[in-house]
Amino acid sequence: MSRFFAFIYDPMIAKTETACLQDWRKELLANAYGTVLEVGAGTGANINFYPEQVDKLIISEPDEFMRKRLLEKLSNSSLKDSQVKSFGMEDINLADNSVDCVVSTLVCCSVHSPYDALKQVYRVLKPGGLFLFMEHVAAENNPGRLKWQNRINPIWKRISGNCHTNRETEKYMVETGFTIKKITKASMRKAPAFVRPTIRGIAVKPQ
Ligand SMILES: C[S@@+](CC[C@H](N)C(=O)[O-])C[C@H]1O[C@@H](n2cnc3c(N)ncnc32)[C@H](O)[C@@H]1O
Repeated sequence: MSRFFAFIYDPMIAKTETACLQDWRKELLANAYGTVLEVGAGTGANINFYPEQVDKLIISEPDEFMRKRLLEKLSNSSLKDSQVKSFGMEDINLADNSVDCVVSTLVCCSVHSPYDALKQVYRVLKPGGLFLFMEHVAAENNPGRLKWQNRINPIWKRISGNCHTNRETEKYMVETGFTIKKITKASMRKAPAFVRPTIRGIAVKPQ
């Protein structure tokens, strides 16, 4: 990512936030509790939605320019116990079985290896722990849109910080060993057509 991308990220996504993302973030994060790790936190769009039952929040963002904006937002928030880290989702620097929940919103599209990233999430979650996800994905039931996603992907990932338009994140989670407890599939309104299909919900690391 670049300083420029970090600068335009919030205004770029503002209409989509109002149209749907803020409601989805609030609904998703209501499930967070205990010790929570958020990966790829960007400019901190989730921080105002964490509920009281979160005791400790570890927020990671590998991009220095996004992290700077995250730190600014955090300094104006009422979050009690939070730490900011710079590791990526593939290199989570926390102990095995150490967190109650991991949060990822619009991140699995951008990681280098979704399988390596999800394996790390699985490793650090306690048995029974929750992976709270909200991701844009491949248009599994719309072959016409999927064709366009596949066509545009090589260009889009170059200009948008490695964001892939056609990831099959539900499949990757299941293959990593997660049990999908809840999943909602919806169109991300006011977003470009090729990133509109989304999934959000709760995946569990089995006991
Ligand atoms: C589209 S933004 C989403 C930001 C934020 N999570 C949100 O919901 O608005 C994608 C974020 O993923 C981060 N990212 C990219 N590669 C990553 C990786 N390998 N591990 C963790 N985060 C990554 C980017 O730096 C960026 O902040």
